[in-house]
Amino acid sequence: MSKIVVIGGTGLIGSKVVAKLTEHGHEAIPASPNSGVNTLTGEGLAEVLAGADTVLDVSNSPSFADDDVMSFFTTATTNIIDAAKAAGVGHYVALSVVGAELMVDSGYQRAKVAQEKLIKSSGIPYSIVHATQFFEFVKSIAGAATVGDEVRLSHALIQPIAAEDVATAVARTTAGAPLNATIEVAGPVELGIDDLIRAGLANAGDPRTVVTDPEATYFGQKLDERMLLPGEDAIIFNTTFEEWLTTAAPAPTK
Ligand SMILES: NC(=O)c1ccc[n+]([C@@H]2O[C@H](COP(=O)([O-])OP(=O)(O)OC[C@H]3O[C@@H](n4cnc5c(N)ncnc54)[C@H](OP(=O)(O)O)[C@@H]3O)[C@@H](O)[C@H]2O)c1
Repeated sequence: MSKIVVIGGTGLIGSKVVAKLTEHGHEAIPASPNSGVNTLTGEGLAEVLAGADTVLDVSNSPSFADDDVMSFFTTATTNIIDAAKAAGVGHYVALSVVGAELMVDSGYQRAKVAQEKLIKSSGIPYSIVHATQFFEFVKSIAGAATVGDEVRLSHALIQPIAAEDVATAVARTTAGAPLNATIEVAGPVELGIDDLIRAGLANAGDPRTVVTDPEATYFGQKLDERMLLPGEDAIIFNTTFEEWLTTAAPAPTK
């Protein structure tokens, strides 16, 4: 049994990973402001990491504004690295985004790349998991792309994945030996981001119209057709968006 500290262990992915690691006999400890651990101030980090074999970071910034998100990931990661080194942690795992390094006009993605760079140069053995967009993220994508009553998105391709499958991949990676590399995970189907959001909004009874607009940006980034897609070595999970809609999606609100 290993002791694994899950930074952001109360979040969407974190709570699922904690459950999976615990099922497999690990001591998985969720660490976040709710449990007295704040990576921005450093509060509680040394205490929770004492005796830990592995630290997994699946936290997220409360604000996606460019400066806030950069400050969140660089400050938090620097504090986690310092505390992990002091505690002799042997494996640092983090979750990031497929194509983050390509989306240079997105402040969020620039912050994820900065987080990854800090981890890679920390000297701590590491594994980074790059996931495509979660099915659970459809509502946020729609929100960010809304102009008036319309949602404006391009037809760039996306290969989204269920959060449950991301958690499975992250839990396996966390329980394994350090890869000192990045792996990619994705869902089974590639489709236009406009069509994905159209289907998600229709299922949720959301009245907004999705307009296909080649000039529309995605969180500040103008997307190339294949920018969000994983490479050929990606691990592909089976859950489709349609299956997720019938089994795991939140109930329609209207
Ligand atoms: N959304 C996507 O499609 C997508 C795709 C690929 C990768 N990712 C990555 O997946 C990761 C996890 O996302 P998620 O949706 O699971 O996140 P989430 O549900 O928003 O959860 C965020 C977590 O971060 C914690 N947190 C916030 N501020 C903190 C702080 N100062 N110190 C410690 N913990 C803090 C929260 O703790 P409290 O509960 O205590 O507030 C919560 O546990 C992110 O890094 C994101 O970049 C997302």
